[in-house]
This record gives sequence, structure tokens and C-alpha cells, in this order.
Amino acid sequence: MDSLKIILSFTLLVSLSSATSVVDFCVADFRFPVTPAGYSCKNPANLTVDDFVFSSLSVPGNMSNIFNLGVVPAFDVTFPALNGLGLSMVRLDLGVGGVVPIHSHRASELILVIEGTIIAGFIGSDNTPYYKTLNKGDIMIFPASLLHFQVNNGNSPALAFVSLNSASPGFQTTTFALASNDLPTDVIQKITLLDTTQVRKLKTVFGGTN
Ligand SMILES: *[C@@H]1O[C@H](CO)[C@@H](O)[C@H](O)[C@H]1NC(C)=O
Ligand SMILES: *[C@@H]1O[C@H](CO)[C@@H](O)[C@H](O)[C@H]1NC(C)=O
Repeated sequence: MDSLKIILSFTLLVSLSSATSVVDFCVADFRFPVTPAGYSCKNPANLTVDDFVFSSLSVPGNMSNIFNLGVVPAFDVTFPALNGLGLSMVRLDLGVGGVVPIHSHRASELILVIEGTIIAGFIGSDNTPYYKTLNKGDIMIFPASLLHFQVNNGNSPALAFVSLNSASPGFQTTTFALASNDLPTDVIQKITLLDTTQVRKLKTVFGGTN
């Protein structure tokens, strides 16, 4: 009898300690600044079902770029209902030879290939590369914060969707981080060991100066 009481009390404690949220949802109100916990909530009385539906993933993103890549993100900033819920989704269209350049973010990512074949991989923090050609229906996980990439290595366009366990994953792409800003060329040369000519070439491609 006593052990049953203990089990019941323990169950109650566990369920109380996991019940942290006091609202069902918190659709972002962009009139107020973002905080580490996310945005302020819109008044629920002003919401309709359309606040919880996002239709932009039905069409490819703009693919007129050096990577032959279309990206449509459903993050809290584009789909405010995701605010505070800890997940998001992105549509990826890769033309033949198209690339998602090596990048990282603070959330883990799960890719699902819908069409085509994609070489996908990540680099472990011990520098071990884990990569493989994925086919239609395959999923692969890229653990949070590790550098990763995708390349369409097939003869036809590829389509994939990724989900991430953050509404605001914070994408950082290595080439943009190095070459799209005014970080001086000689500093980049020193920290990467790339040739100065190569650094200048990357700055020209990605709009960097200095
Ligand atoms: C939101 O709803 C409140 C009532 O709950 C109303 O007073 C207010 O005008 C609404 N705001 C907008 C922007 O519709
Ligand atoms: C696609 O992106 C290119 C390059 O940034 C731009 O010139 C073009 O206007 C964009 N197309 C559309 C439909 O937005």
C-alpha cells in the first residue's frame, strides 16, 4: 500500500514538474522585440485557423543563385505560429548539380528526400565525415551545431523537406560568414590558409569588401 502511495506521489511530481507552459500556443507578435524565450504572444482573441496554416512551401524558392538552390523557410519570422514550439520546416529545391553549401545551426535537422538523389553529410566534431547518397524516401539526421551540406548528384532536379527542432535555428553558412562582409582579406587568409587571390574571388562572388 505504501509503495503504491510513493509511486503515485512520484508520478504526480513528475507530471507537475513537466507542466511548464501556461498557454497552449503563442503566435508571435512582431510589435515587440524577440527575447531568448521567443516573441510576445498575439492576443488569442484575434487569432483564426489561418494563423496556424502556412502555404508557401507549395512552390520552390528562387533558384537564380550560384548554388542553383531554392530555399523556402517556415521559421517563426515567416510562420509566427511556430513561436515557442521548438520546431520548423524548410523546402529545398536543388537543380541538377545544385548545392546547399556547408553550414551549421543551433538545432538538429532531419531531411526527407521527396525527389531525386542527394549526397548529404555532416562533419563530426572530431572531423569524421559522415556522408551518403540519399534517394527518394530516405531521411538523415544532422546533429545540432555540426557543419553539414547537401548536393544534388543526380540527372534531374531534387526536392527535399527538412524539419528542425527550433523555430529559429540560426543558419550560418561558412562561405557567407567568410566572404559576404568586411572581414579583412589578410585576416581571412591567415585564419583559413586560403590564397589571397582565392579570398578576393570569394568576396567578389558573395559581395564582401576589404
Ligand atoms: C484584438 O482583440 C481585442 C479584443 O480581444 C481587440 O480589442 C483588439 O482591437 C484586437 N486587435 C486587433 C489588431 O485586431
Ligand atoms: C530571383 O533572384 C534573383 C537574384 O537575386 C533576382 O534578380 C530575381 O529578381 C529573383 N526572382 C524573383 C521572381 O524574385
